[in-house]
Amino acid sequence: MSQRCVLVTGAGGYIGSRLVPALLERGWHVRAVDRFFFGADVLEAHEHLRTIREDTRRLDAAHFESVDAVIDLVAISNETSGQQFVQATRQINCDSRIRTAGLAKAAGAALYILPSTCSVYGEQDRDTICTEQSAINPQTEYAKATRDAEEQTLALADERFSVVVLRQATVFGPSPRLRLDLAINFMVHRAHHTGKLPVVRDGSQWRPFIHMDDAVAAQLFMLEQADRSAINGRIYNVGANHLNYSALGLAEHLVELLPRRVELEWIGDPDNRSYHINCDRIEQLGWRAQRSIADGVTELWKLCEAGKIDGSPRSHTLRWYRDLDRWHRVIREIEMYGGILDIET
Ligand SMILES: NC(=O)c1ccc[n+]([C@@H]2O[C@H](COP(=O)([O-])OP(=O)(O)OC[C@H]3O[C@@H](n4cnc5c(N)ncnc54)[C@H](O)[C@@H]3O)[C@@H](O)[C@H]2O)c1
Repeated sequence: MSQRCVLVTGAGGYIGSRLVPALLERGWHVRAVDRFFFGADVLEAHEHLRTIREDTRRLDAAHFESVDAVIDLVAISNETSGQQFVQATRQINCDSRIRTAGLAKAAGAALYILPSTCSVYGEQDRDTICTEQSAINPQTEYAKATRDAEEQTLALADERFSVVVLRQATVFGPSPRLRLDLAINFMVHRAHHTGKLPVVRDGSQWRPFIHMDDAVAAQLFMLEQADRSAINGRIYNVGANHLNYSALGLAEHLVELLPRRVELEWIGDPDNRSYHINCDRIEQLGWRAQRSIADGVTELWKLCEAGKIDGSPRSHTLRWYRDLDRWHRVIREIEMYGGILDIET
């Protein structure tokens, strides 16, 4: 068991920085690949952790030597960032994943997990409940690139190389790289700071949710417990049937859970994307989400109370990528001799 090796891309991200310690705790050797756009301090050193600062578009065969499994979390991870950085989103969320799956297969890895997104369901009728067999309807580059990655990585599955796609619901709860651009995290943080709970118009759009512990647990389950021949080549919705909410329904639930009285505040333009998922297929394998919205809200509120969520641009994915992009342009313009004021002499 101690020799089993898993390569995780996007390992320094919101999910990755919770998944990697969980893998290490369970005896896995981990190769953690990331550009670490959100900081390298999110992963603690460990004797079985090898950190690889690399762009997934530049991985090569050597990175996959002796790797048993790959969890390919890497992505430009939300719709708005995907709209702003279209080409990079296509290259990272789709092309690099197809390449990574191919390299893993060529190196003799047995399993490739694609952590996909329920965003591929896109715009659905408000009373449609999406199973894995429902027609998908991706609306954005983020969702379309993920759809293409799903199709083309699944096509690589054979009896020696298992591929499984996990269409994750929107995750909530703490992480070393906390994302405040995710609905519940954002709503709780904003309610704590302003006393107002934001709700995106018109409030009738549905979304599924999943606690971070369960998002991590689903990946561990696929890696360690699920029958490979049963999951190979299949797609699973990862969430829970009772954790689908309309935006307004979620806000009203949060109002009941929050320890302080807050008022609703309508924000944004009406959001046409609406999807409600069914999770029977993954539950039939023997996996079930354990955590509730209340669990996540309690944890997030505690962090807010302790002043441990700073709300800086780094916690808002699009804002941070925009900032990095702008600084890069400015620095390239004014840098000389390897520096700004201190230079190589
Ligand atoms: N968080 C959610 O609610 C959620 C829901 C559904 C699906 N997902 C999917 O799960 C995956 C992980 O999401 P997350 O919330 O952890 O996102 P995240 O943005 O926190 O993590 C992505 C990581 O990838 C890294 N990265 C980006 N481009 C890279 C590149 N070219 N090379 C190397 N590293 C690069 C970033 O530095 C970051 O650490 C994504 O594929 C996302 O689409 C997330």
